[in-house]
Amino acid sequence: MLIGVEVKGRRNAWPVESSLRELSHLVYTANIEVLDDITQRVDKFSPTYCIGSGKLEELIALKDEVRADIVIFNNNLSPLQQRNLEQALDIKVIDRTTLILDIFAQRAHTKEGKLQVELAQYQYLLPRLRGRWAHLERLGGGIGTRGPGESQLETDRRLVQKRIRHLKSEVEEIRKHRSLYRRKRKQMNIPTLALIGYTNAGKSTLLNLLSRAKVLVEDKLFATLDPTTRRLILPEGQVILLTDTVGFIHDLPHHLVDAFRATLEELSDADLLLHVVDISHPEVMKQYIAVEKVLAQLHLEAKPKVIVLNKIDLFSSLDGNERVKYFLDQINDGKQRIAFISAERGWGKEELVRTISIMLNQSLIMLT
Ligand code: GTP
Repeated sequence: MLIGVEVKGRRNAWPVESSLRELSHLVYTANIEVLDDITQRVDKFSPTYCIGSGKLEELIALKDEVRADIVIFNNNLSPLQQRNLEQALDIKVIDRTTLILDIFAQRAHTKEGKLQVELAQYQYLLPRLRGRWAHLERLGGGIGTRGPGESQLETDRRLVQKRIRHLKSEVEEIRKHRSLYRRKRKQMNIPTLALIGYTNAGKSTLLNLLSRAKVLVEDKLFATLDPTTRRLILPEGQVILLTDTVGFIHDLPHHLVDAFRATLEELSDADLLLHVVDISHPEVMKQYIAVEKVLAQLHLEAKPKVIVLNKIDLFSSLDGNERVKYFLDQINDGKQRIAFISAERGWGKEELVRTISIMLNQSLIMLT
């Protein structure tokens, strides 16, 4: 069962329907079957249940009717909301972040990816530990006494904190190793190019097209989680490195971006970014903004960049296409470099490679 709640009149929010569509895609990626979904528009989130009491009754009836064994909220839930909902519904309730973390956990393959996901999971779990022992805590009774639940909770919390410290130091090691590796690459004077983009935009397909690397391509969100670096030879014989990064998604909590900082730091040393955009997606502008926001968080707004508008094969014609026109009107201040491609069909490849070559030469000249 999926549930999406929208706060009325909130500016720049994703419409609840399209946000739920994305959630079903996420759920499919996690191999969970969607039985039904419901939505609600509220004036503000209820601090106790996120949804209103009438909607809660509806949800209770519906989950029995469809025999759901999990309810997934599109919104992020506070530890209190999650606990209350689980008690009221008597089944597992998870939120969007937990689902994303689960998918990350399923898809991380390298040691680095696994460590980063585990760190993010523990950081998310820490404030939520309380709920798990609430039933035991009650046994503890009055103020000043320490029940078995409470001491268990403290033990758990200490264990989790210890694990977080350990994971952070391991991630730090990887960071150091990576920065050493990057420094070596810099000394060798090999320009690097990094692919970024909203999940499912087509980064891996483009990486495969440009380098013939066989990277996992799937119509699932976050098919690639770990960065992959490939060599690419430009027409004039110049060798460059091309790195694929984790797909971005909107409303990622801060600590998740933090957990992936080691990977995302690859971006800070890239000479050029290719922001791959699925121009056929109905929420293309919002996806574009979500990625640019993360770039801003990483202080990378000023990096040389090509906006690569992908999946143009899904349009019968580009001229006069309203979505393309609107997108270009919104983002193009005359300075943005734009390339149109179909990574799947190989359309626009030569033009893109030419743009990359020109941009790299410009940025390398600027650096020297
Ligand atoms: P994440 O790993 O989630 O970040 O995804 P990604 O950005 O690497 O996307 P990926 O290359 O895995 O492609 C996602 C889906 O879009 C796949 O089903 C691809 O076949 C499809 N796709 C990629 N490029 C194109 C294109 O040019 N045209 C069409 N029609 N589909 C494409």
